[in-house]
Amino acid sequence: MRTLVVVAHPHIERSRVNQRWLAELRGTPHPITVHELYKAYPDFSIDAEKEQSLLAQHDRFGLQFPIQWYSMPALLKMWLDDVFTTTWLFGDGGRAVAGKELLLAMSIGGHEASYQSGGLIGYTISELVRPLQVFANQIGMTFLPHYKFYNANKASEDEIDHSAVSYVEHLTSPDLNPIVVRKRILDEMKRNGSASL
Ligand SMILES: Cc1cc2nc3c(=O)[nH]c(=O)nc-3n(C[C@H](O)[C@H](O)[C@H](O)COP(=O)(O)O)c2cc1C
Repeated sequence: MRTLVVVAHPHIERSRVNQRWLAELRGTPHPITVHELYKAYPDFSIDAEKEQSLLAQHDRFGLQFPIQWYSMPALLKMWLDDVFTTTWLFGDGGRAVAGKELLLAMSIGGHEASYQSGGLIGYTISELVRPLQVFANQIGMTFLPHYKFYNANKASEDEIDHSAVSYVEHLTSPDLNPIVVRKRILDEMKRNGSASL
């Protein structure tokens, strides 16, 4: 599995969490391509064709970003709009990204308890990233469970180090895709001769 991680942090030099995650990605032996969007396009002038060919070479896409105003940084939204064009996605048999996987990795300033109904924010992260889930579904990608790190600004160095390790474990896990997991369960049931779990 070839994984591409698109990192979108507007001020990576001031970051504690995303910068540490970047270092972990760069040090891992897993085949991961790291693409820093704000470094590649400081002028917000995205080369869509170059991005599309990069996407074509990978099977799993990670989008790594800090939550900003309950959403993603501006350049990441622009990248989605400019690169995932209708003609690229659905021309030529409509297979540009079909069958590939999309995974979000987010650092979040607020506490986990705030992100629930009745909490300070009142909505879960899953609810806030619903547009990305619809996007993935509509273009034939599998939307994988995301990786989240709450309380990002107040976290200790140890907590951030620990999050970096679990982030890469999560990102590289083959067990995230529900289709793969279901197939494994069915194969196991067949081997055991059982008709239900
Ligand atoms: C412009 C801006 C908007 C932000 N909006 C939110 C927000 O809506 N919810 C939240 O929990 N944190 C918010 N934060 C906090 C960031 O998510 C947090 O600073 C970041 O995840 C920390 O990661 P870093 O160390 O990599 O920068 C915001 C920060 C900035 C700068």
